[in-house]
Amino acid sequence: MQPPLIAPSVLSADFANLQRDIEMLNNSEADWYHVDVMDGLFVPNISFGFPVLEAIYKHTKKPLDVHLMIVQPERYIAEFARAGANHITVHYEACTHLPRVLTQIRDAGCRAGVALNMQTPVEVLTDIADMFDQVLIMTINPGFGGQKLMPLSIPKVRKLKHLLRTTGSSALIGVDGGMTLDNTATLVEAGADYVVAGTSVFGASNPADAIHQLKHSKQINLA
Ligand code: DX5
Ligand code: ZN
Repeated sequence: MQPPLIAPSVLSADFANLQRDIEMLNNSEADWYHVDVMDGLFVPNISFGFPVLEAIYKHTKKPLDVHLMIVQPERYIAEFARAGANHITVHYEACTHLPRVLTQIRDAGCRAGVALNMQTPVEVLTDIADMFDQVLIMTINPGFGGQKLMPLSIPKVRKLKHLLRTTGSSALIGVDGGMTLDNTATLVEAGADYVVAGTSVFGASNPADAIHQLKHSKQINLA
């Protein structure tokens, strides 16, 4: 099995030492940088906006994977693309006209992503399977880092993998929330192509090594 792409979540970085943390990621096996934008409405937390994204962009050498946990994200797609986003993921639950928003994201030159909260079944994507490039399965209730993965996400990822295969979609599957060395291999086995990890990377004594271990946890578990 292919090792997953690893997307460390910058939400758990040290904001007083952001440049240092981004440079650590540049020199690590991280594939993307996951950037969580929260508005205090869609989720009960506020993270950061454009100035911080621009500051991150200045130092990054890898794609910026922006996860918008905001209501009416269509208002800001062009601006996020301008600020350096390479991928923009919006929540299914936050978009009344999801196809239009996904088109907007692609038109802005970014990979289009859809995130699904735990209660949203994967079948909602069936009819629009050619309109997105990645799907982010929330494995926690979004809003905060440091939570525990909900086990129901495992069959959900499996179901999504099947759905994408039957619709002919080549979209990547991501998992976000509570990802650790103990569960990453299981989620990858179920079909996850990329793994978002905050606490298990930045809370580790050696974050670059934690990234390496997450990426190869399948092999480690089998050994
Ligand atoms: C939560 C965010 C996640 C979060 C993951 O709403 O979408 O990306 O940063 O953090 P951990 O890995 O600590 O669960
Ligand atoms: Zn996220």
